[in-house]
Amino acid sequence: MTGIFLIGLMGAGKTTVGRTLAQRLGLRFIDSDQEIEREQGCTIAELFARLGEAGFRDIEARAIDALTQREGVILATGGGAVLRPENRKALHERGTVVYLRASPDDLAHRLRHDRTRPLLQQGDARAKLHELFRVRDPLYRETAHFVIDTGRPSAVLLANRVQMQLELAGVLPAAGGQG
Ligand code: S3P
Repeated sequence: MTGIFLIGLMGAGKTTVGRTLAQRLGLRFIDSDQEIEREQGCTIAELFARLGEAGFRDIEARAIDALTQREGVILATGGGAVLRPENRKALHERGTVVYLRASPDDLAHRLRHDRTRPLLQQGDARAKLHELFRVRDPLYRETAHFVIDTGRPSAVLLANRVQMQLELAGVLPAAGGQG
């Protein structure tokens, strides 16, 4: 089976949904930001501070290229992974891409105490999320094979919806009463 790649803005639930689905389906879960932090030996915030956003994007592009070549994994990507055309192409062509689409207002609420995302630490986080949504929503749509509008459900409910959608499309084998 080719990989299942989760895309969407920060806080949309990519990591929790990905981990839940992987556990349930017996697949390997990979989070691109965590892979980058492990490989670089520092946090994403430190990389932004040291290299700037462009430097981080170079490292991210290398990670996306490597990780999208793995078979049978569930990959959660960083929210900005769709900014580079080569990443969009790799994601779309090498696996099944699911866009977890959340509204900027819901995300602002969910991330109101977050201190780990460098892009949200200065100024008005809600306004920033609106701006990111405006720029990126078309890129996520272009990259995705499936779009799931999330609302505010629990991770488990969201994972159920993603799984059902992928089963209906024949990407995942139907649970057949086992799950
Ligand atoms: C970013 C999202 C983050 C992380 C970095 C930049 C973005 O990942 O890669 O802070 O540009 O949206 P998550 O989407 O996992 O929070």
